[in-house]
Amino acid sequence: MSTASSAPLVVAITGATGIVYGVRMLERLRDAGVPSHLVMSKWAIQTMLQETDYTVEGVKRLATTAHSPDDFGAAISSGSFLTRGMVVAPCSMRTLAAIATGNATTLVHRAADVVLKERRRLVLLPREAPLNDIHLDHMLRLSRMGVVMFPPVPAFYHRPTSVDEIVDHTVMRVLDQFGLHVDDTGRWSGRTAAPLGARA
Ligand SMILES: Cc1cc2nc3c(=O)[nH]c(=O)nc-3n(C[C@H](O)[C@H](O)[C@H](O)COP(=O)(O)O)c2cc1C
Repeated sequence: MSTASSAPLVVAITGATGIVYGVRMLERLRDAGVPSHLVMSKWAIQTMLQETDYTVEGVKRLATTAHSPDDFGAAISSGSFLTRGMVVAPCSMRTLAAIATGNATTLVHRAADVVLKERRRLVLLPREAPLNDIHLDHMLRLSRMGVVMFPPVPAFYHRPTSVDEIVDHTVMRVLDQFGLHVDDTGRWSGRTAAPLGARA
């Protein structure tokens, strides 16, 4: 019998800047022993080559299973394949639009459509700035359907000293959304600084 705890998480990486978020997600899942199904869009690969030293094969190896974005016959294309949900990290505005309108032209969109119809957890890390009305409309529409909009906006209360720490903090918070508490780095545990006015 399959259980929710053994079900894989679908990880999609699309062509927005911040590919490292998806890659760190895969590393965290691998380290925690959580199976992952990866699908990278064609423009995710272009963006990755532009902004990182990762290779396509190296990133695919981090996942339990990797799918081509053209493969509509993949397991994650069907609701009968059990998953614990899906995260799109980062999520381009094109993919956001496709998911919001049900226009599934790649496996990324189809897998998200499946997660929506099965009422499973869908978390998007939309990455664009500034945002136009179309982007905001799509986000609101999806949010009202229960999709978690989690733009990768850094927190600073844990006093990060590197980009890695900023990325890790966001990844930790995103995985919390799936009940996967894989890291305790930089969790807020109450104010530690001196109260306002008490500083020398
Ligand atoms: C280096 C690079 C950075 C990009 N950054 C973004 C971005 O931050 N947000 C976005 O919506 N699109 C971005 N784009 C454009 C998308 O890649 C493009 O719209 C593409 O069609 C997205 O397709 P996909 O959603 O199938 O990955 C970027 C493209 C490149 C080459």
